[in-house]
Amino acid sequence: MPFLRERSGGWSPEKIIAFAGACVPALWLAWRVWSGDLNPARPVNEAIHSTGNYAVWLVVTSLAVSPARRLFGAPKLVNMRRTLGVAAFCYAALHFTLYFVQEKFDFPKIVTEIAIRIYLTIGFVALIGLIALAATSTDGMIKRLGARWNTLHKIVYVIAILGVIHFMMQTKLDITEAVMVAGFLFWLLGYRLMHRTIGDVTYLWLIALTFVCAALTAVAEASWYGATTGVPAWRVFAVNFDWDMAPRPAHWVLIVGLGVTLASFAWSFRGQRPSARKGQKARKTSAKAPSGAIQVQSGS
Ligand code: HEM
Repeated sequence: MPFLRERSGGWSPEKIIAFAGACVPALWLAWRVWSGDLNPARPVNEAIHSTGNYAVWLVVTSLAVSPARRLFGAPKLVNMRRTLGVAAFCYAALHFTLYFVQEKFDFPKIVTEIAIRIYLTIGFVALIGLIALAATSTDGMIKRLGARWNTLHKIVYVIAILGVIHFMMQTKLDITEAVMVAGFLFWLLGYRLMHRTIGDVTYLWLIALTFVCAALTAVAEASWYGATTGVPAWRVFAVNFDWDMAPRPAHWVLIVGLGVTLASFAWSFRGQRPSARKGQKARKTSAKAPSGAIQVQSGS
């Protein structure tokens, strides 16, 4: 299995963990199909929801690799990115295939639906993006495209945003999970923006980022319900302060954001020096660090 090895030829623990983790949802879904655990009335639709879910979470997880390797001083985590990105593509491809099955391979109907239903059009654009990234994720393509490869792979951020919008738009009632994914995406995009602009993302910046993203998440949730159900947005927003209704998506963003900050701080006492505490030097080197989901260090 060469895709689980490092360039040196040795096994890569990061790649193995990413691969095993990415296989778990597929095995779980296969088990549910085999044991007849899917909704008997609409098993294919349930599988569509599951695979869409795995695809969007994997895209977002792949975006977390760069911040994680900086915050925990673990450059080798980059080895996980290609596996996570390709896995996201595989789940999205299965998701699309299952949609064909659900629509009984009625090609004209499928084309029409994708053209007229805006949430499907958005999903389709995201899928095309994932195909482009997966097709260019081989070592050969990385070499062939050179500097253009980095530029191309930046579209992973757009894909993640489109995936989350598609998720929110297709959700009929409870948008809790979709808003939660959006909240984590806010944090990851915010971290990247900070890293590019101020370079030295200190722990105080991380805490500020977490509070801003939690507030944005609460606003996004309130606005969505306000716009789609007619319930006053301020009443939905106020639910975030009602502890009987906790945890809300904004709370999860707070818990995970502050948890990561604390973990990074604690990790720095293990003799590692995460870039959050580094000065100018980190600014120069990490500004050049590669980014993107289906991205690898050349040859890794
Ligand atoms: C042409 C491409 C795509 C089509 C035709 C498509 C179609 C669908 C359909 C039919 C649903 C279920 C809607 C319902 O039952 O009412 C769905 C849900 C979903 N899709 Fe897609 N999709 C596409 C691409 C994508 C991509 C690329 C992603 C992720 C990056 C994605 C993520 C999701 C998610 C997260 C859900 C909701 C899952 C849940 O309810 O938990 N889809 N999609």
